Amino acid sequence: MAGPRHFLSLADIPATELRGILDEAHRRKKARAGLPKGLPDTDAPFLGETLALIFEKSSTRTRFSFDMAMRQLGGSAITVSSGDMQLGRGETVEDTAKVLSRYVDGIMLRANSHDTLIDLARNSTVPVINGLTDYNHPCQIMADLQTLEEKGGQLSDMTLTWVGDGNNVAVSFINAAANFGYRLRISTPEDYAVQGQIISAAQSAGAKIELITDPLAACAESDVVIADTFVSMGDKDADKRLVDLAPYEVTDALMAAARPSALFLHCLPAHRGEEVAASVIDGPQSVVFDEAENRLHAQKAVIAWCFGA
Ligand code: CP
Ligand code: NVA
Repeated sequence: MAGPRHFLSLADIPATELRGILDEAHRRKKARAGLPKGLPDTDAPFLGETLALIFEKSSTRTRFSFDMAMRQLGGSAITVSSGDMQLGRGETVEDTAKVLSRYVDGIMLRANSHDTLIDLARNSTVPVINGLTDYNHPCQIMADLQTLEEKGGQLSDMTLTWVGDGNNVAVSFINAAANFGYRLRISTPEDYAVQGQIISAAQSAGAKIELITDPLAACAESDVVIADTFVSMGDKDADKRLVDLAPYEVTDALMAAARPSALFLHCLPAHRGEEVAASVIDGPQSVVFDEAENRLHAQKAVIAWCFGA
């Protein structure tokens, strides 16, 4: 018997399945236009089903968007910080997975370590969804790609440029590049580069990835410029990072190097004056709040895929 459908990495899921998830995200968003946020979609496909939301670290968007996603799908969510669970006192991930599989229909986990997520998925008989780990953040990229498509872009025609730290969000853009066909430029200082094997695995799968150290050169003629915090949750060397990464702030000069129609993405939370100038993130090319909204719509489609709809 096939196991549950987990959503752990965009590198593991075939392109046709990811395309289907994105189509469903667009369809569901349009279908409920004008409905009050708390009312279910007209088909309410997951009436009576429950998703557990477990957080080992802080969250605003992931927490609220998954909870609202389940309400709109006709189901419900149980949100808990891992510190309030026996997991936080040493109960194993394996036992936690087996127990929760008896109560709920799916589990979303935001984990410090990607290994914890993998361990949970291995031992769960219900679908497990990655709500960010130290390695990647796949739900975020589904929302980002939905945003670019709804702004009229054809992903396979676009050049996306990542500027800053080679972190978990950058990894998911790399993981998805072959599946969606966009050209991806990564501009990081050498010490903050994404691990070479992640890039070479994506390139072997057909991803078009260029590494360009100079951020101005990387942004030239780009369709999309993407930033994220210089200090991710769990990073210990904040002061050093802010100094080392300062030349990678997305400024008006970097946006001017990109195409005049270029869009600016940031998963949020943002730090104005660190990874991005206020004039960029609060300016006309920024689509960060559409991007945040689309976490809800994209995740509804992810849940539907996991639950087998
Ligand atoms: N972008 C994102 O995942 O935000 P939160 O940390 O607030 O969930
Ligand atoms: N790279 C950031 C993303 C937050 C949504 C972090 O891991 O903290």
